[in-house]
Amino acid sequence: MTAQDFILESYNSTIEKGKVKWSSPSNIALVKYWGKRDQQIPQNPSISFTLSNCKTITEVTYVKKDSSDFSFDVIFEGVKNEAFKPKIETFFKRIEAYVPFLKDYHFTIDTSNTFPHSSGIASSASGMSALAMCLMSIEQELGAQYSEEFVIKKASFLARLGSGSACRSIEGELVVWGQNDSTDSSDLYGIKFDGDIHPNFKNYQDTILLVDKGEKQVSSTVGHKLMHGHPFADERFKQAHDNLAKLKSIFASGDLENFVKIVESEALTLHAMMMTSMPYFILMKPNTLEVINKIWAYRKANNSNVCFTLDAGANVHVLYPESEQDSVLEFIKNELSDYCQNQQYIVDFVGNGAEKLKIN
Ligand code: PMV
Repeated sequence: MTAQDFILESYNSTIEKGKVKWSSPSNIALVKYWGKRDQQIPQNPSISFTLSNCKTITEVTYVKKDSSDFSFDVIFEGVKNEAFKPKIETFFKRIEAYVPFLKDYHFTIDTSNTFPHSSGIASSASGMSALAMCLMSIEQELGAQYSEEFVIKKASFLARLGSGSACRSIEGELVVWGQNDSTDSSDLYGIKFDGDIHPNFKNYQDTILLVDKGEKQVSSTVGHKLMHGHPFADERFKQAHDNLAKLKSIFASGDLENFVKIVESEALTLHAMMMTSMPYFILMKPNTLEVINKIWAYRKANNSNVCFTLDAGANVHVLYPESEQDSVLEFIKNELSDYCQNQQYIVDFVGNGAEKLKIN
């Protein structure tokens, strides 16, 4: 498919108003997307677990209007929010060609997250995917006749234009994004990983340790840009293709030992790219390293398959199979929670993606 296939050609503009509501989760990448060109076209393929508990709930009310500008209000956690407006305005401008009714309506975007505000957890993946699903529902209320498959693809395509990794939150349990030889994925949208998944990877657990809740010093937008002309970029992009191919067979065979190796190597490579860009930067904090060392020691002592991954920040995602749930949660409570701000962590697990919600 090409971007042209996502243009809505005609719609019923006599509809005066309506309301739609969706929830959409965050996701955690196993092979990381870092480096992009044009508008969120990734320089390498990525694959992620979709999460369950960390999600955004968004209700969009639309009311017909006359003026020819974008018009919308954002309500975040019950309070009118001006700070999010520029990001949404940029998103609307980018997707207008595909969603041509955006200037015909005034939108009230009422949104909230299930995870604590300013926890250092990026809400752009859950937020942009929830908004994309709302727009797809509106498109259908305005008469578009789509298959369910097309709705999911276009929602992922739109979400990608809001925030790259958001395209991997529409479905679960594993989503691949970015052209590669191991799957049928595309640079334009994420697809559900359709390879075999061994029971070892069913209901995989992710406990997110809130090591640092502060604002990041360097945004991912800037980080992605620093991959242009990065001395190790080409090798890194190749490595991501190789790691995705390896993960595909690991998911089929259930090889947890090699899963751990690839996932941790990907996390450290992501941060190595940050440390070796110009300008260089470090997003890990001392407690990030303390936690990593504790995880390694625990894994060795207990013959465990627990491992860590990181996104673009200091927080640590602790990944483990469901069979180790009780023991690892005990370990986190007793030995890792002291490294978290206010001892806070979020217990999450793999989920199935966005869900349509009833309007109250
Ligand atoms: O979607 P963005 O532009 O915020 O980039 C996210 C990049 C990482 O979270 C670091 C990796 C990934 O693949 O999610």
